[in-house]
Amino acid sequence: STAGVAEVQRWVRAARRIVVLSGAGMSQESGVPTFRDAQTGLWAHHRPEDLATEDAFRAAPSMVWDWYAMRRAKVAEVEPNAGHRAVAAFQRRHPGRLTVVTQNVDDLHQRSGSPGVLPLHGSLFADRWLDPPRACCQAQPPQPGHPPRCAGCGNLRRPGVVWFGEALPPDVLAAAQAAATACELMLVVGTSGLVYPAAGLPGEVSAGARVAVVNPQPSALDDPAQAVLRGTAAALLPALLAAD
Ligand code: APR
Repeated sequence: STAGVAEVQRWVRAARRIVVLSGAGMSQESGVPTFRDAQTGLWAHHRPEDLATEDAFRAAPSMVWDWYAMRRAKVAEVEPNAGHRAVAAFQRRHPGRLTVVTQNVDDLHQRSGSPGVLPLHGSLFADRWLDPPRACCQAQPPQPGHPPRCAGCGNLRRPGVVWFGEALPPDVLAAAQAAATACELMLVVGTSGLVYPAAGLPGEVSAGARVAVVNPQPSALDDPAQAVLRGTAAALLPALLAAD
């Protein structure tokens, strides 16, 4: 049998170190679409291979750049929800005790005030050079455009997110793995658990540590978890992380 909210609340109070591993469901109640929801998911209306790979970007830089610019503009308009705020409030009450590891690129954890967020898949708000920058790329600001490009050599700016087939930033992934190994409790919030290496993190907790899933729907991470709470981030996290 799996534990309920009251038991997970006890686990939170007892845990010296907690990891929150979040996915798109964490931001759903802020109005940000998830990826794999059959009706509203981003991948229900676009093929990831057409938008979320380097090949897709090289084949159609303007279309891909504009799609990420549209997502960034939409995300800039929304607010963190009660789930993000509950996590940040807990971190303020208990400095250093809770680490946020997120798959999300919406910066909503950061905007809610969470310190030390580990953004495994980068950020919509941090673009970077497509090819290694030369002196000319750094000598002057990129020429405006979609995408912006280097006036000297034509190097393109690309979204600062991790695309399918790309390595995660090694320092961020290593920090996330260390946090997973060190924690006594991992709250896995709003992820289908289908994309690795992020989805492998719950399996990296130490013996004796507990994993609690927060998700209104079944996910690939439910079975090995010690608790599966069928509810939403904004409803459950304020209860789970309430001031003790
Ligand atoms: N609260 C909690 N969970 C929710 C909520 C909510 N309000 N709404 C939806 N969910 C759950 C869904 O049930 C689903 O299990 O959030 C999960 C979202 O799953 P995905 O859309 O697959 O998003 P995610 O798991 O974050 O995707 C991982 O895939 O496309 C790549 O890089 C992208 O980071 C993304 C990765």
